[in-house]
Amino acid sequence: YHTRVTIIGSGPAGLVLGHLLSLAGIDNLILERRSREYVEARVRAGVLERASVSLLELAGVGDRLRREGLVHEGIYLQFNGGRHHIDFRELADGAVTVYGQQEVVKDLIADRLAHGWPTVFEAEATTIADADSLGPRVLFRQQGDEHSVTSAFVAACDGTHGIGHRSIPTLTTYTLDYPYAWLGILARARPGTDELVYSYSDRGFALYSMRSTSVSRLYLQVPAGEDLGGWSHDRIWAELKARLESPGLVVNEGSITEVGLTPMRSTVSTPMRFGNVFLAGDAAHIVPPTGAKGLNLALQDALELASAIIESVYEHDAAGLEGYSEHCLGRVWRAQRFANYMTRLLHLDYAADEFARQLQLADQRGVVDSMAEATSLAERYVGPALDARS
Ligand code: FAD
Ligand code: DHB
Repeated sequence: YHTRVTIIGSGPAGLVLGHLLSLAGIDNLILERRSREYVEARVRAGVLERASVSLLELAGVGDRLRREGLVHEGIYLQFNGGRHHIDFRELADGAVTVYGQQEVVKDLIADRLAHGWPTVFEAEATTIADADSLGPRVLFRQQGDEHSVTSAFVAACDGTHGIGHRSIPTLTTYTLDYPYAWLGILARARPGTDELVYSYSDRGFALYSMRSTSVSRLYLQVPAGEDLGGWSHDRIWAELKARLESPGLVVNEGSITEVGLTPMRSTVSTPMRFGNVFLAGDAAHIVPPTGAKGLNLALQDALELASAIIESVYEHDAAGLEGYSEHCLGRVWRAQRFANYMTRLLHLDYAADEFARQLQLADQRGVVDSMAEATSLAERYVGPALDARS
């Protein structure tokens, strides 16, 4: 095989990159280890920043998002039962859209296949060879057969467990592990809240989110390494109620259709480029989910890389490619800072002494009492508008 850009992975990063390149007339091939059904059913994040919504709309894949996405003009922060509204419209002149990651993925795959843009599912990339040459090769395995594809550029959009970062010999990865994880459920139940509730309680953090007016998405902080076997559906509902319910807020029960565990980790890998191999999305960085940034960062990397490749192909200008890593990493560290702030503000620190606990309480009061702090949170949650990004 030969193409201009080989993209490994059909998550949000790979699909948006492929989409933008194809629209610009640049040939690309997506290799995806899993089946289409598997990728489309994978339940993950759900909050799109305003720039992500604009990007998907401008790219022509925003129709269903506009129809079915839930526009949220704020969130609630709840500290041991006291609930406070953070008004995004007033504080940040913006809003976010709640729309499942797998819906974004479905929309992009449907559009890609309708255009006939080359996509191979159940094709696992095994090696990136000659990464620092003009023609890197990706070796991949499909139904037991080995294949190889050469291209001018390789984009490793292959997530946390991909091969992309292994092919960059100069890579350094900085990591912060948190001592807890999120147990997440999806349930056929009407959400008991109009906007997301991020709740700190002495029992641990809980988040009330949703996917539609009839589907709820909820998360519980649990210790790292927790065994899901100990969590019956009854226990999950009881714990959600204990951590979330307060005057005016009821957790509506329904049948649970999915239970999963997400470890809480921060990683940043640098540089995000080696020769003509580029990393994008979770392949290069992971943020803890509390700030709802993971999916949004993946889309922003994809836009950055697409623009850089388009410039290099049509204008023979490599400045975008040269600056790709540094540019993305600036944004990544800002997102890490926000995700870390939200995580520490809202989770029960199992090891906290009284001093640490009082500091956390003061942080919680600070964001409620100070308009400046609430504004900062709102601005960072909503993110800059697409044309104001740096
Ligand atoms: P991915 O979506 O991981 O896509 C990578 C793709 O590459 C996958 O389809 C994978 O199958 C494929 N692949 C991997 N290796 C190979 C290979 N060798 N060959 C071919 N294909 C390969 N973020 C939030 O903000 N909030 C959340 O609640 C939240 N929940 C999450 C829950 C889970 C279980 C996980 C794993 C992540 C969650 N995230 C969340 C993070 C968010 O979903 C990710 O940041 C986002 O998926 C990143 O997109 P991506 O395209 O970079 O990677
Ligand atoms: C969801 C996930 C998040 O990580 C978050 O901060 C808010 C919402 C969600 O899946 O709906």
